[in-house]
This record gives sequence, structure tokens and C-alpha cells, in this order.
Amino acid sequence: MIKRTQYCGEVTEKLIGKIVTVNGWVHKRRDLGSLIFILVRDRSGLVQVVFDPSDNETLCGSAAELSPEFVVSISGMVAARTPENVNPSMHTGKVEIRASGLEILNRSETPPFVIDERETASENVRLKYRYLDLRRPNLTRNMIFRSSFGHCLRDFLINEGFLEVETPIMIKSTPEGARDYLVPSRVQPGKFYALPQSPQLMKQLLMVAGMERYFQFSRCFRDEDLRADRQPEFTQIDLEMSFVDEEDVYELCEKLIVHGLEKACGRKVERPFLRLSYEEAIERFGSDKPDLRYGLEILDLAAEVAGSEFQVFQKVLEKKGKIGALALNPVNQYSRKNITEFEEILKKEYKIGGLAFVKVDSGKLDGGIAKFLSAEIQAKMIKKSGLQTGLIFIVADENHERACCSLGHLRKILADRENLITDKSALKFLWVNRFPLFELDDTGNYTPKHHIFSHPREEDMQFIESEPLKVHGKLYDMVLNGTELGSGSIRINHRELQKRMLNVIRMSDADAEIRFGFLLEAFKYGAPPHGGFAFGFDRLVMILLGETSIRDVVAFPKTASASCLMTGAPDSVDPKQLDELKISIKT
Ligand code: AMO
Repeated sequence: MIKRTQYCGEVTEKLIGKIVTVNGWVHKRRDLGSLIFILVRDRSGLVQVVFDPSDNETLCGSAAELSPEFVVSISGMVAARTPENVNPSMHTGKVEIRASGLEILNRSETPPFVIDERETASENVRLKYRYLDLRRPNLTRNMIFRSSFGHCLRDFLINEGFLEVETPIMIKSTPEGARDYLVPSRVQPGKFYALPQSPQLMKQLLMVAGMERYFQFSRCFRDEDLRADRQPEFTQIDLEMSFVDEEDVYELCEKLIVHGLEKACGRKVERPFLRLSYEEAIERFGSDKPDLRYGLEILDLAAEVAGSEFQVFQKVLEKKGKIGALALNPVNQYSRKNITEFEEILKKEYKIGGLAFVKVDSGKLDGGIAKFLSAEIQAKMIKKSGLQTGLIFIVADENHERACCSLGHLRKILADRENLITDKSALKFLWVNRFPLFELDDTGNYTPKHHIFSHPREEDMQFIESEPLKVHGKLYDMVLNGTELGSGSIRINHRELQKRMLNVIRMSDADAEIRFGFLLEAFKYGAPPHGGFAFGFDRLVMILLGETSIRDVVAFPKTASASCLMTGAPDSVDPKQLDELKISIKT
């Protein structure tokens, strides 16, 4: 094989007159009279090669055999294309290689889909032949970006004095709110390792071990319902630091992102990032991960509708509930049917009583619930809405969070319909902090909102046993364009406090010993104050590349049912293996 002197994408005007060799795949063949044009593709891009019988007739005979995806080594002289043949949309479009040598390194059957920028096949077919899909220039570009961006972030962390430490994959369960993937032990039948949902406890133990600053590009495994931004296995940029407070973590994480964006994307991002408390994010945007690329904030109408004779409002106000609204001057039409559809979605998801609306028409309210509202209240509502014409959507509910989150959902629906994100490439980072540490699960028990290792805020410690829902944490998320990019917290480093927190989620001291005894034990021996963060690396790359599916930035992703269509995983195993593991399958 004649080895390449250049990648295809490097063959530009600078090389005119030089003899080069490229190695790659036949992208397309075009026969033009006696001339044969081949586009050769490798990771870096495409270059045109021309086979001219007046240069070499036998070579043209071989070139006539070439079909898409044949693997070739081609040598020749780089020449300028004639002006009418210049292709400005191709990086190498001003030149071509006049072939003087061709070696067919391997042949290819006709691939199941054309390797092209366009998606010409269904996603299932593309996932089955992922190695072909990855040859498509946009996926190749994604893989290259992922690698170089990761490299920049690694460099930054190493320069900041972080140690890269690999933590084990076969561990005892570290809960992050999802189900574990389990690995049965052969030598200890009936016992299982869990794959890490995150390296949370290991990184905390590394702090106890005096490593001071740790990071890892860590694979995490979570058996949970999949969405467009979730995979059952994914990568976190996981980090932890000793002797730090929240401000240190904010600063480090912001600098890391700013550095990575500048080095890998040439994009400048201002810091410090905006900060919102959890409560403020919910009240203003109805979400703990608001997209700040557009406004449409939730308005609080409590003061405006006070004294209203409309029963729904009266009842909610008596109970100090929320009367929230979205005011919009829409470009599109909204029929009653549309509004009923929105209402159904919100009722189903948030269990709210209903979605009320009024029209604002030349400074007057009309339609919907307008007839229940006095002229005075109407005037106040119009003033608050800032509308001359438009629509006001209203949710009234005893529960603030429910009212706000339902409006937050509607805010997204309306933003989509109205195309409110004018600059889709804008990067709106923010921190959401001061999260409550606990919430109630479906059975009415307390459960951690994040994980159980986050430190409560000092001022709320008095409520740990009496009113856990009042306890806020030193807990923060970084949000980008409506997606949670990562989470972190300052951790508990005292055994007694950790036990108190575990007790809230009904874990007795004895159970705590069984599940987290090793951590509680470690806290006996001088655990420093520590805190950290974990970015979802796949999500970050996905947003930066403007992709809408996490699968487009993962080399070998899984489907929504957690299958790998290429290899057929998960699969049944040889009964002998199950025997060795002393496992039988219930049917
Ligand atoms: P958390 O569970 O919030 O925190 O995870 C951190 C970030 O990881 C990403 N992420 C995912 N990405 C793709 N697919 C998934 N299934 C998935 N699940 C989570 C998200 C998320 O923000 N140990 C803590 C971090 C810490 O406290 O330091 C943790 O894992 O972007």
C-alpha cells in the first residue's frame, strides 16, 4: 500500500504542482466521456481525482471498476481546476488530483444507504450500520469536535492541578435516582456489583484520601427512561475539590467552560454566569432549567386579581396559592381548540384544575374568563400584561410549584409555536442554586432531590428533622439553553450529619451502615470539607454542535429501548454462563 502524504481535506491550492498520495474511500464516481472523476473521502473531507486516458489508459481502465466505499490509495499531481469546474462549497474545490497511480485496497458491496450529509435512511438502519453512518461527514465532524473539545477541557483541568483518577466500574451501588445496572458475581453466587450511576462516593473518598483535586471523564450507567438527551451509558466530566466553598466551584466550572469554548469553538462567553435560586427560577420561568434565549416570563397576578369575585381566584388566594400568567402577542392564530389542547396537556402532566385565558383587544379584555372579572381588575391585568392586543393564559393553583411548572411547560410550547428563539446559536448559561434537598415521592415519603450527600445550608439545618421540605442545599445546577448541563454540591463531610440526612429518607442507622458504611467509616478519619460538580459531556457536546439528539454525538449509541442495533445487545446468554452464576431466569 502506498501510504498517504496528505489527508484529502489538506489537498488545496498550496500543493499545486506537487505529487501527493491520498488514502480513503470512494465517495462518488462520475464518468464524463472518457474522463473519470472520483471524489475520495477520508476523515478530513473530500478531494476530487481525475483519471484521464490521455495521461494513462490502463489506469483509467482500473478506475472504471471503482464504486462507492471502495478503499483506495491514489497518487497524482495536484492541479488547479479550470474556472468553470471550481466548486466553492468544497474546501478542496479549487484543485484536483490528476491520477498517476491507483491501488484498490478493498472492495465494498453496495452500502445499505448512501453515505452523504443527508439522512437517506431511517435511524434504525443507520444504527444497525453505525460504522457506515459514522462515515457521513456530519457525524465524523461531531466525533472530531467531541475529541478536541474533550482534549481542551482535560488540558485546562490538568493545568489547574487536577489529578485524573480512574475509579472502578464494578462497585457497590451509588444512588443517583435511577435503577442500577447489575453485574452478577461468579465467585460469590447471589451477589452483584452495580455499575456506577456516577463516581460520586469514590470521588468523595478520594478527597478523604487527600487527593485534593480530582477529575475524570467517567462512564456512568443508569437504567432509566430514555429521552432525546439521555443514554443508558454516558460520559460525565466529573470533578471534586477539597477545602472549597460554592464560590470556588462556580468559578472553576465557569472558567473550564469559557476556556473550552474559546479553544475548541473560538466562541467567547462572558462570566460570571447569571445565578437564579431554585425558587426564583420556578416562579419566573416555571422550570429549574429555564431557556433564557427568550423572555415570556411568568407574571404573578395575585395583586391584580385580589378582591375578585371569580371563585377560582378567590379560593386560591385564600390559600395563598399562585395565580400565574403568560402574556403573549402572538403571530399565529389560537383557536379555542388549540387552547383546550394545551389545557389537556397541562392537566394531565401537572394535575392542575384548568388553563384560563382572556383576549386583550385594543386595550380591553374579551372572551375566556373576561366576563367574570370587574372592569377595575381587567384594567390592572392589562397593565400588568403590557399588551395592547394578545392573549393572557392563566393558571391558578394552591400549589405554587404546580401552577408555575405548568406555565413553564406552556412557555415552551408557545416559544416553539411562535418561534421566539430568534438566535438559535446563542449560548445562555446560568446557575440555578439553593435547591431544596428533599421532595415527596409518590408514596408521600421524603426523597433526595439530587443525591443524599449534599450539604444543607446552615440556616436550614434546624429543619432537618421537623420540616425537611424547608431544607435547602449547597446544591447547584449549570443550565444551558433549557438543558441541565451538570450538577454539583458542597458535600457533607461529617458522619453524624450524614446519618441525620439518611434518617430523613427513612434509612435507619443500621441500613445506612449496610449501604454506605464505608463512607461513614471514612468520615471518622479526617474528611476535609469538599465539593464538586459533574458535567454531562454528551449533552454539552450535543448543544454546542446544535444537535437535537444525544445519539448524534455518541459513537455507538443505544436506542430508546436501550438496545444496540449493531451488535444486538442486550442479548440472551449461554445457559452454561447462567449456571456458573447460579442464576435462573423467571418467565
Ligand atoms: P447528576 O445526576 O445531575 O449528578 O448528573 C450530572 C449530569 O450528567 C448528565 N446526565 C446524563 N447525560 C446523558 N444521559 C443520562 N442518562 C444522564 N444522566 C445525567 C446531565 C447531568 O446534569 N454525582 C452527581 C454530580 C455531583 O454532585 O458532583 C451527578 O451525577 O447533564
